[in-house]
Amino acid sequence: MIVACFSTQPYDRRSLEAASSGTPLEWRWLEAPLDARTAPLAAGARAICCFVNDRLDADALARLAAQGTGLVALRCAGFNQVDLAAADRLGMTVVRVPEYSPHAVAEHTIGLVLMLVRRLHKAYARVREGNFSLEGLLGFDLHGRTAGVVGSGRIGSRVAEILLGFGCRVVAHDPQPNQALAARGVPFLPLDDVVAASDILTLHCPLTPATQHLVDARRLGLMKRGAVLINTGRGGLVDTRAVIAALKSGHLGHLGLDVYEEETGLFFDDRSDEVIGDDVFMRLLTFPNVVVTAHQAFFTREALKAIADQTVRNLVRFDRGEQLEALVRA
Ligand code: NAI
Repeated sequence: MIVACFSTQPYDRRSLEAASSGTPLEWRWLEAPLDARTAPLAAGARAICCFVNDRLDADALARLAAQGTGLVALRCAGFNQVDLAAADRLGMTVVRVPEYSPHAVAEHTIGLVLMLVRRLHKAYARVREGNFSLEGLLGFDLHGRTAGVVGSGRIGSRVAEILLGFGCRVVAHDPQPNQALAARGVPFLPLDDVVAASDILTLHCPLTPATQHLVDARRLGLMKRGAVLINTGRGGLVDTRAVIAALKSGHLGHLGLDVYEEETGLFFDDRSDEVIGDDVFMRLLTFPNVVVTAHQAFFTREALKAIADQTVRNLVRFDRGEQLEALVRA
């Protein structure tokens, strides 16, 4: 079966080739991201393989379906980039990788927290310049602080467990509270109460119409002055312009992002020789108390292997007409 793989990076190709050796999958490696314009590149492929910033809107899906593509295999957990209703109408099957390494994202989240509260990003640059002054690097203990976790699924619950290990008081919000965390004494509270109680607020819920701009100007106003906001979920969970206003006023103390609402067309490529046209993003980078990584939280050896293994399993099962285990439905 021919599989057109969009947004292919060298590491995708290496891991997917290794996982599919000995299978009947025939890869068509495409560096281009998928959208309605690039969909014709998949002509003749019964399946396509996509990542977080491929645009699977109704238009792109209709073109793919007309060319005979029946399966969309997402090599990621999130599926907010897919118009599932359109896929359903067109009779297309969508599968994903629901679980690979929650540790990868959880540990990166904690990395961002530590970087910000101990100013490691500044210390790293300073020491390399021969500047050994500690002035301006004063941090705070995580022990005894309140951490708010929004979304207590695979990743959020792991983040909560690590933060409990630091001696934080963890509070959480989730319409479906994680029972193991509740049993450990983590209170599940209304979202506004979690926001207001937190010294560190970290987002781990999916991006849906209901969670779009979950952290907006009003909720930023509810946060404690000087608090830390971390988003390794999806960019759209946070209203970036409102966050910039809160940083400028000094109300928001620190911001750690691994995702950005306009990251499509920006992240995953070397743009160091380009003039970046996104003024909102570039303003974010000017703050000394902001750290941005470019959607890297998932990027560990363990996670890449697990993603490739599950993606290949999904594709082979579809090819054989077997029951699919990681279906995404509207
Ligand atoms: P999961 O499905 O295990 O957990 C999500 C949790 O969010 C569930 O418990 C659900 O009940 C909860 N939830 C749904 N609506 C909510 C709301 N309005 N408020 C609070 N909680 C809500 O998903 P998992 O594996 O923990 O992943 C979470 C998110 O992390 C994904 O949706 C994805 O967007 C993001 N992610 C980011 C990666 C990165 O590299 N930065 C990599 C993998 C996932």
